[in-house]
Amino acid sequence: MEEVKKILYSAVQPSGCVTLGNYLGAIKNWVDLQESYNCMYCVADLHSITVRQTPADLRKRSVELLSLFLACGLDPEKNIMYFQSHVPAHAELAWILNCYTYMGELSRMTQFKDKSQRHADNINAGLFTYPVLMAADILLYQTDLVPVGVDQKQHLELARDIAARFNGIYSETFKIPEPYIAKVGAKIMSLTEPTKKMSKSDPNPKGFISVVEDADSIAKKIKSAVTDSEGSIRRGEGKEGIENLMSILSATSGESIESIESRFAGKGYGEFKAEVAEAVVECLRPIKEKYDQYMQDKAYVEKVYTEGAQHAQYLARRTLDKVYRKVGFVKR
Ligand code: TRP
Repeated sequence: MEEVKKILYSAVQPSGCVTLGNYLGAIKNWVDLQESYNCMYCVADLHSITVRQTPADLRKRSVELLSLFLACGLDPEKNIMYFQSHVPAHAELAWILNCYTYMGELSRMTQFKDKSQRHADNINAGLFTYPVLMAADILLYQTDLVPVGVDQKQHLELARDIAARFNGIYSETFKIPEPYIAKVGAKIMSLTEPTKKMSKSDPNPKGFISVVEDADSIAKKIKSAVTDSEGSIRRGEGKEGIENLMSILSATSGESIESIESRFAGKGYGEFKAEVAEAVVECLRPIKEKYDQYMQDKAYVEKVYTEGAQHAQYLARRTLDKVYRKVGFVKR
């Protein structure tokens, strides 16, 4: 009997660029998953308008992100890649699930509290119900596994609660998704504030490296990365900057931290940083090359996301029809 592959679902918002941190911490590992799971990768454009976007930029970044999925090695024959706004079932299920989610639950979401502080001039209802749309994304596909970082863990918990609540009222409808704990992807920190995660929304562009950044700019940013005044290349208290560069070198070159530590014993930061920069450039070079090719081939990328959306809509519709029937809507 052929074994049925589990469904793994993930989505990325098209806000800002994809950083070296996103790549080493997540996307790089996705490539290894495509043989073992049925994977879906969504560009979450509906989510991204919960904060103000410039329309032309949003459109451009959405296509760039999908092209980047391809450039990183995700195969459209093996994965479904699509834009969230192309599959209306997401918005439809989100409405229904809104009616099975409590204000109290949403008020407890730390990301909402966080974002409403950062965007105090635009605390819109979409920002509040953001986790419900995310639950809809996941539940539409009878997802088994969702790879989540700490920042999205609470949202996944909520999706599980909503699914269990709905199933409890109407009988088994949704699969309860589990978190997928990835093989330890590298955790890459900001180059300017190495106690914070590397983030594409960092207002200081020196803090992050984009996966499609050119070699000169990468070298400059690594050269100016914050370190310490001790001058030795090792892990330890107050050495977060050096530790981060060691993680970056290790993740991009494959060399172990221990080996890096002993190889650089007695050497200076200048030499070390030059090597880190070179390893990053070499690691990203093939991605950048493929990315540039895909960006030239609009027709191909369009075919990928159009077929992706058709496939996704077909799968989503099956769940949505079931939901409509259960809540008592008249069959159309
Ligand atoms: N909220 C997620 C983030 O900002 C993106 C996202 C939207 C997502 N829908 C999802 C992630 C469904 C996993 C599953 O990172």
